[in-house]
Amino acid sequence: MGIPKGGIAFFDSGIGGLTVLSSYEQYIIDVARAHKDVPLYYYGDNKRAPYGNLSEERIRRNVKRAFRVFCRLKVCAVVLACNTVTAVCAEELREKYSFPIIGAEPAVLPAAKHGGKIVILATNATCASKRFHSLCETARKKFPRTDIKIYPCEGLAGEIEAHIQDAEYDYSQFLPLGSPDSVVLGCTHYVYIKDKIQRHYGCDVYDGNEGIAHRILTVFEESCQKNRDGRPPTEKKCSKKGETTTFHPRKGEEKPTKAKANKRSYKNAKTGVKCTKNNQKVPVFFLGRCRKINQNTYKQMFGVKIFSKN
Ligand code: DGL
Repeated sequence: MGIPKGGIAFFDSGIGGLTVLSSYEQYIIDVARAHKDVPLYYYGDNKRAPYGNLSEERIRRNVKRAFRVFCRLKVCAVVLACNTVTAVCAEELREKYSFPIIGAEPAVLPAAKHGGKIVILATNATCASKRFHSLCETARKKFPRTDIKIYPCEGLAGEIEAHIQDAEYDYSQFLPLGSPDSVVLGCTHYVYIKDKIQRHYGCDVYDGNEGIAHRILTVFEESCQKNRDGRPPTEKKCSKKGETTTFHPRKGEEKPTKAKANKRSYKNAKTGVKCTKNNQKVPVFFLGRCRKINQNTYKQMFGVKIFSKN
């Protein structure tokens, strides 16, 4: 089957971004049905995962390879469904490419507004990045009564990737000791074990997937329109305008207000349970050398219809 062009590409080092893809699918099924037909691509770089321990230079090189594929597909937007890639190179990618690039940001601010002790779990590369530090600084300034601790979970993403089929696997040795008031998941791989982390600490656990889904919808439509007008994505500076587009509902389509969207429950998608509703499906095309791994994982974890290149 040929791959249709002009869709939205989701990119991660491996299986972590599937949780973002699934949240987005759920979101468009629930909130914005008119967008159901926009093809979705998933590119997971599992063979080179985990990225969290790689140098910034190696991460950039891997990302570049994936973006060549996205350019050939004339994508209307790319979702960096990976906190590590976002932390290391989101800004430079936005400088370089004309299509919108949506990043994965740890949900530090939503957690910090409730105060108390917060532990942020993330990869080494994310924890070491300037972008992540400035996010934590912003949260500390805005919510001074919040005590934010950062914990680099060395090896956890790789462990999740390796044991995804084993529901009983114990990850507690990778988690820091303590009794926080809330935990923020700063890596999309960790969303698979959100329930386990919740049980381990007995507190609220935040991930950024719902926020990403909402953000995708607000930026991609204008970009799709540009592609239909025959403006292929190029390696040139993205116009500011393209990054701040708002959602334009099609005829008969209700505009999803923020409040309404936030009311939706993405519990199933976040915890890795089948997330289709009323048997509605969204086409997903898996790309790259590791597409079979991601395709199978997606099928097993989220039970949605899959399209593949071959
Ligand atoms: N899923 C990734 C993230 O959100 C990357 C994990 C890794 O490859 O180390 O950070």
